[in-house]
Amino acid sequence: MEQKITMTDPRKSDYFYEEAIKTLRTNIQFMGKEIKTILFTSCYPNEGKSDILFQLAKEIGKTGKKVLVVDADIRKSVYVKRYRVNQSVNGLSQYLSGQIDKQWIEYITNFENVSMIFAGPMAPNPSELLEEGIFAELLQEKRRQYDYVLIDTPPMMNIIDAAVVAKKCDGAVMVIESELVSYRMAQKVQSQLQKSGCRILGAVLNKVDTKREKYYSYYSKYSK
Ligand SMILES: Nc1ncnc2c1ncn2[C@@H]1O[C@H](COP(=O)(O)OP(=O)(O)OP(=O)(O)O)[C@@H](O)[C@H]1O
Ligand SMILES: [Mg+2]
Repeated sequence: MEQKITMTDPRKSDYFYEEAIKTLRTNIQFMGKEIKTILFTSCYPNEGKSDILFQLAKEIGKTGKKVLVVDADIRKSVYVKRYRVNQSVNGLSQYLSGQIDKQWIEYITNFENVSMIFAGPMAPNPSELLEEGIFAELLQEKRRQYDYVLIDTPPMMNIIDAAVVAKKCDGAVMVIESELVSYRMAQKVQSQLQKSGCRILGAVLNKVDTKREKYYSYYSKYSK
């Protein structure tokens, strides 16, 4: 049974941003075919994870690869509102807590090759739900069905969810807001991710002042 939804992207077209997303896509595709489940996180709220992840999903989809977006930010989900989904949808929290069957949480979107699993209603215990074996199994199954599974998570500063999810992913991308995050803080998050055994694929420097820096957003691999 296939469920369909329509999403409307509010983002205005922006040449530099789009080019940066294409660079990110290329870099991820060059990571090799074993890197399929990828988590996006950051130190602080609002650094731009969800936005980048969704634009990247659309961009990968355009190249003919099948992408699944999994919103594992059960605490503060933005997708339904931001992309003006005008129907009620089921989500991850309902599946992980045993309220609904797996087949009811996956939606085919109007964006080419992009499917979506929404976060679902806010649950009192997101970390425990994400820790469950059934979440790991879900990711493994989707890993086989899609070319890429992109997983959105809350910021790592005070919340453990991203580290929990990281244990179950092939790699992580850190989104860093330009001039907001100190080197020490970024290193702290990096080591937290590494402790969970997750490979850090790289970092995206977001919200760069284009007038000053020329590039809107920039992707680079961490040096050792
Ligand atoms: N490159 C950018 N330039 C300007 N504004 C941006 C940029 N990227 C994201 N934003 C804006 O910043 C806000 C936060 O973006 P987003 O929701 O993607 O961040 P987030 O890291 O997922 O936040 P949260 O931690 O709350 O999940 C949004 O209003 C978004 O439009
Ligand atoms: Mg977000």
